[in-house]
Amino acid sequence: MAAPKIQYDPEFTERVIRTTGPNANKRLAEVMPSLIRHLHDFAREVNLTVDEWMAGVLLVNEAGRMSDEKRNEGQLVCDVLGLESLVDEITSKLLSTSHAVDTPSAILGPFYRDDPPELKNDQSIVFHIPKGCSWEKQAEEEYTYMWGKVISAKTGKPIKGAIVDVWHTAPNGLYEQQDPEQQEYNFRGRFRTDEQGRYSFYCLRPVSYPVPHDGPAGKILELLDRQPFRPAHTHMFIRAEGHKSLVTQVFDGRDPHIEDDAVFAVKDELIVDFKPVEGRKEKFHLEYDITLGGKDN
Ligand code: BEZ
Ligand code: FE
Repeated sequence: MAAPKIQYDPEFTERVIRTTGPNANKRLAEVMPSLIRHLHDFAREVNLTVDEWMAGVLLVNEAGRMSDEKRNEGQLVCDVLGLESLVDEITSKLLSTSHAVDTPSAILGPFYRDDPPELKNDQSIVFHIPKGCSWEKQAEEEYTYMWGKVISAKTGKPIKGAIVDVWHTAPNGLYEQQDPEQQEYNFRGRFRTDEQGRYSFYCLRPVSYPVPHDGPAGKILELLDRQPFRPAHTHMFIRAEGHKSLVTQVFDGRDPHIEDDAVFAVKDELIVDFKPVEGRKEKFHLEYDITLGGKDN
C-alpha cells in the first residue's frame, strides 16, 4: 500500500510572502516571493528534516568563517553547484545585443584581482619562479606566447585601447594569493590593445588544478562523489568603451578534465589548441581573437 501523502499547511508559504512591506527594496520585493516559494517547495518535496536543515546552516556558517580577502568559500560553494556559471550565462544574455558573434563569457571565479600590473604588449606575466621550486622546469617547458585581436561585434573592426586582464595559476595549480612561495601578482597582467586592436603577452600554458576542497565546497564534492579538478585554463577580462565587458576563460582542449569541469564553465567556443613551436624561447603559441558585444544602453 502506498504511504499516505503528508499534508502541510497550504497557506503557509503565501503567508510568509505577504509579510513583505510597502517600502521593501524594489528588486527584493520582486525576486523574494520566487525564492521563498522555491525554498519551501524544495523543503516539502524532499521532506527536509531539522537535522538536515541544520547541517546546511552549519555549512553556510563554516563557509563564512573560512572566507577572507584571499578566499571566498561562499562563491566556491556556488561554483560547485553550478550557480556562478548559470548566473554568468543569464547576465551575459541579458546584457548583450549580438549573441551570435560575441565571444562567450565564463565565470570570474574567486581568484581575480582588480589591480594587476599594467604591462606593455609582448611583456611576460611570468614574474617569479621560486628558486628550487617543484615547477621550475615545467615553467620553462610550458612558456607560451599568446596574442590576438579584440574586435567589435557592432562594427566588425578591431578595437584600439581595449583593456585585457589575464591571470592563471603556477604549474603547481596555485594562484599567487594561495601560495606563500610566489611573489604577489605572479602570473597576472593588464594589457592594452594597440592601433590594430592587438594584445600580446608571454605566459605559461596553464595546468588543470583542483578547486580548494578543504572546506564546505570540498565537503559537498566529497559527499556527492565528485572530482574537484578544473581543466587547464587562462582567465581573461576585457573592457572597451561602448562595449559590453567580457569575463571569460580559454581552455586547453587537450586537458582530460575538459569534459568534467568541477564548476561547469567550459563552452565549445572557448576551447583552444596551444600550438607547439621549435627553436624559440617560448614552446607554445596561442592566437585567440575576442569579439565584444554591443550594449543595450
Ligand atoms: C578559477 O578558475 O579560478 C576558479 C573558479 C571557480 C572556483 C575555483 C576556482
Ligand atoms: Fe582559474
